Amino acid sequence: MVNLNCKVEVSNKAYQEWISQKKGPVFNTECDPLKADKNKTCPIALIRKVIETKHPVSEYISSPEGGYYYTHLYPVFDQTGKVIKVVHYVEDVTEKKRIEEQMAITEKLAAIGQLAAGIAHEINNPLGGIILCLDNVIRSSMDEKTKNQHIELINQGLSRIQNIIKVLLDFSRTTELNLRVCEVKDLIENVLKLINYYLKEKSIKLKIELEQNLSPVYLDSNKIEQVLLNLILNAVDAMENSEEKVLTIKVYHKDSKMFIEVSDTGSGIPPHVAEKVFDPFFTTKPLGKGTGLGLFISKSIVEQHGGKIWFTTSEKGTTFVVEIPLEGRRIHER
Ligand SMILES: Nc1ncnc2c1ncn2[C@@H]1O[C@H](COP(=O)(O)OP(=O)(O)OP(=O)(O)O)[C@@H](O)[C@H]1O
Ligand SMILES: [Mg+2]
Repeated sequence: MVNLNCKVEVSNKAYQEWISQKKGPVFNTECDPLKADKNKTCPIALIRKVIETKHPVSEYISSPEGGYYYTHLYPVFDQTGKVIKVVHYVEDVTEKKRIEEQMAITEKLAAIGQLAAGIAHEINNPLGGIILCLDNVIRSSMDEKTKNQHIELINQGLSRIQNIIKVLLDFSRTTELNLRVCEVKDLIENVLKLINYYLKEKSIKLKIELEQNLSPVYLDSNKIEQVLLNLILNAVDAMENSEEKVLTIKVYHKDSKMFIEVSDTGSGIPPHVAEKVFDPFFTTKPLGKGTGLGLFISKSIVEQHGGKIWFTTSEKGTTFVVEIPLEGRRIHER
């Protein structure tokens, strides 16, 4: 129990020990929290937030010595509804985070292993073309026009290889999930900022259906944004020849899970395609347009979050559903 001068009034033994070890996530010195920098993630700034919002606050705090803590501050009110004290609860989750990170890396390595055969094939194809063209240019005397055509083909093949390598590097580089508490609304807004213009250009009507009072969720916003972006781009491609072009994004909670649905009014996914959509390098798009890694990577990201991804489809359109568990990661209702 901490008073509004950040003085610890009552605490258990573990908290006392952390005070004596001067650990970052506990209150060590008395001070005025109202002078704290609001944007910092330290206990003093968090107490300020509790005083001002009168709501509990839960945050992850990392300390300079490399620890990682899940910390909760609960307000205690007087009879007039003023915050007079704060109950501070801190959990050391350093080990849990290390294991989670290790698991994410292992899964990623397994996925890359699974990709290896596909990568070899995907790079080998354009490479064959490049070698052939180059051979022709060197060995045979050809007119300027044919020579330029050959050079253009070599160029296309190299761009394709470069594209594949880039996607793979992006995929392998970001092994670690950067989990934070975020609002799904912000996440969707970020993605829409990127593609609003594109949707307008393609005359696609956008419908957003967010359930009211969505609680904040604990996830890697960049990664989930990447998933949403791919689902939306797929939906846009699927509606290329549709008369009615409506993209619907729906978010709701059910049974302590969060669901994000991305629906299109395309012509659906035929059964022979449906069974392969999550396979690496599977694409029905023209050469140079899709790498076929979008859904494969999306699935891996969602699974890293302990979630699932699936779709329902008919000749009226397709809905991709992303499910992310909230359990244990849900912060207090505001
Ligand atoms: N909403 C959708 N409607 C119809 N078909 C779809 C839809 N989403 C995906 N598909 C099919 O699944 C295939 C694989 O999708 P994925 O996102 O993995 O790769 P891509 O979009 O072809 O390429 P990339 O995402 O790498 O640019 C697509 O080529 C398409 O045939
Ligand atoms: Mg895609």
